[in-house]
Amino acid sequence: MKLREIKKLITLRNRTKKAIQTVDDSRAKAKRKIPRAVWDFIDGGAGEEHAITANRDSLNKVVFQPKYLVDVSKPDTSLTIFGKPVSNPLILSPSGLATLAHPTGEVATARAAHELGAVFCLSTGSGNSIEEVGEQSQGRLWFQLYLWKSQEVIDSLIQRAKNSGYEALIVTVDVPVVGKRERDLRNGMSLPVTIRPGQYLHYLSRPKWLSGIVKNPAITFGNLTTVTSGGDASSIGQYVNNELNDPSKTWDDLKRIRRNWDGPLLVKGIMHPEDAKTAESIGVDGIIVSNHGGRQFSSVPGIATVFPQIRDAVSDTVEVFFDGGIRRGEDIVKAHALGASAACSGRCWYWGLAADGEQGVKDVLEILNQETKDTLSLIGQRKLSDVGAHNLYLP
Ligand SMILES: Cc1cc2nc3c(=O)[nH]c(=O)nc-3n(C[C@H](O)[C@H](O)[C@H](O)COP(=O)(O)O)c2cc1C
Repeated sequence: MKLREIKKLITLRNRTKKAIQTVDDSRAKAKRKIPRAVWDFIDGGAGEEHAITANRDSLNKVVFQPKYLVDVSKPDTSLTIFGKPVSNPLILSPSGLATLAHPTGEVATARAAHELGAVFCLSTGSGNSIEEVGEQSQGRLWFQLYLWKSQEVIDSLIQRAKNSGYEALIVTVDVPVVGKRERDLRNGMSLPVTIRPGQYLHYLSRPKWLSGIVKNPAITFGNLTTVTSGGDASSIGQYVNNELNDPSKTWDDLKRIRRNWDGPLLVKGIMHPEDAKTAESIGVDGIIVSNHGGRQFSSVPGIATVFPQIRDAVSDTVEVFFDGGIRRGEDIVKAHALGASAACSGRCWYWGLAADGEQGVKDVLEILNQETKDTLSLIGQRKLSDVGAHNLYLP
């Protein structure tokens, strides 16, 4: 082959080569763009972080038994969740303070989710407020609530979510105390964001992130500015530390919320079949099987390990969601094969946002959707909604 032809081939290859081919590529890009302390906040988990590994390991143990010569020319990933259609079968798990990853934060993420046909869940601890996200996204929005000490704060957050048209309410129950995230403690990760003297050089090596912070200095919990007397990041940070976790909360608190919320109610952080049964008896519409992405407690099983047990514990009228360790389209299909109504992911979208803002979230959602379609074709199943245990290799 002549040199000119080789050069032509290389140019063609470079043009078709996209830097972000997988969620892991997006993760690697995010790591290059944000400071270490922010990276650790997103990537890290509680204690020795075994639960993060367990989530991945449990998914890796699930394998398919493919069938061939089925017409899979038009793989279909559309789903119906709470009676409404979803074209991109991913729920973007509530993950707080997205404005730390990128100044456009949750607003950009919600827009990307809408454009790509996915559902966005806003965390109580979001950087952008319930109202900002509600006004700026036309897509499906769910709101996640922590069981604050103050009943007044709970009621007011629920009311604000109602006023802004959020469709579903998720109550996260796996934070009786805040998990010990040791990387965050060592990095002094707190609100307001403070840069310690020893970290100056490192932060300077992330100039784009720094300039975003300078333009958007008040990184704070957008929903809580009106709740605290000071309203500034420092008093809010202190407020959250004091008020977020209330170890005395019980199922009675969930009953009260059920009476106060007419739309779909989900409970997030369920790891035990008996809790799933109790939640159903209270009248929840959905259960999110989750260990908080390993951010609360290290010594718990991976989600794919406990999921079938929990799915079996409740009736078919309850939608059961898979949350933890999803990194590829294959994982989404595995979640469905284990009986999930849909898969949820926190870190995937967060990495996309940190890597490239709104476009980065879209990239990640597109990649996951294409991989999901390819997996359907490769296992010989045309529709994601038809996937089940029959697609798995069960020795
Ligand atoms: C940076 C970050 C912040 C999070 N904040 C919240 C939160 O405010 N509320 C909540 O219920 N879960 C929160 N989570 C947990 C996610 O909702 C989800 O359970 C977890 O990310 C799933 O695991 P995955 O990251 O492997 O997908 C957070 C996760 C991350 C990565």
